[in-house]
Amino acid sequence: MDNNSLFNNIYNTQLPDKEFNQLSQYIQNNYGIKMPPAKKIVLQGRLQKRLRKLQIPDYKSYVEYVFSKEGENEIIHMMDVVSTNKTDFYREPIHFEILAEEILPKLLAIKGRGKINVWSAGCSSGEEPYTIAIVLNEFKDKNPGFDFTITATDISTQMLQNGANAIYKEERIEIIPLNLKKKYFLKSKDRTTPMVRVNKELRNKVNFMRLNFMNTTYQVNEMFDIIFCRNALIYFERDNQEQVINKLCNKLHPSGYFFLGHSESITNMKVPLKSIRPTVFTKL
Ligand SMILES: C[S@@+](CC[C@H](N)C(=O)[O-])C[C@H]1O[C@@H](n2cnc3c(N)ncnc32)[C@H](O)[C@@H]1O
Repeated sequence: MDNNSLFNNIYNTQLPDKEFNQLSQYIQNNYGIKMPPAKKIVLQGRLQKRLRKLQIPDYKSYVEYVFSKEGENEIIHMMDVVSTNKTDFYREPIHFEILAEEILPKLLAIKGRGKINVWSAGCSSGEEPYTIAIVLNEFKDKNPGFDFTITATDISTQMLQNGANAIYKEERIEIIPLNLKKKYFLKSKDRTTPMVRVNKELRNKVNFMRLNFMNTTYQVNEMFDIIFCRNALIYFERDNQEQVINKLCNKLHPSGYFFLGHSESITNMKVPLKSIRPTVFTKL
């Protein structure tokens, strides 16, 4: 089949119900992301890129490939297109005000000089961990002796790569005050497509790694003082959300802080968290 007829074929072919059910069950069981029948067209659209890339003419053959021995690695690429990665610098800005004005002074008072560990769980392309890094570094500059590390995890290898590269369209950082833009971002020389890169000092503070929320235990070495897990569990079943929050809490110091996204809640969940503000919690 020549390239043109292959592409036409991919555009015209549909994801059959049987293959959709196979994929959606696999994704939900192994990665937590719910794929109800209403998501079929969305999934079909997202997988189209993979079919084209692999030059596979239809979805049935693609699903056979995904579940075959030689298609093992394809699951990583499939999760890159299946995951929803919407994010922003300073998303839900109230969280960063609470962090800077309440939480960091409290942690400094308890810990004295020393390092705090922060986890951005479901970090997408890095805007969240770099926002946290800016807030923490500003605090560090005013409080000599204070220091921090940030661990940023996600299921999407593509997003983790984007995060580690730390290169963004300049328009993405419009929300950041000018003095902080100047301090933490480098501008691309080519101004036809204005890009910025997070500076090395801040990049070195964030360690990106792949971690699946559905793993039985989380292979992270340290305990954390603060965990952000925002807008990542919205597509999960409630039972899975509860289990993930408990596993994250196992890695959180007592009296540590936990942030959820603004549309998320722990109402009626058995989790060791007490609310201090809407969507901001401390560990019991
Ligand atoms: C909508 S983004 C939220 C990004 C950021 N936390 C924010 O609030 O702007 C959700 C992220 O969760 C990740 N995610 C979804 N399922 C996951 C899983 N099973 N394990 C780890 N990360 C997952 C997605 O890849 C995506 O990057």
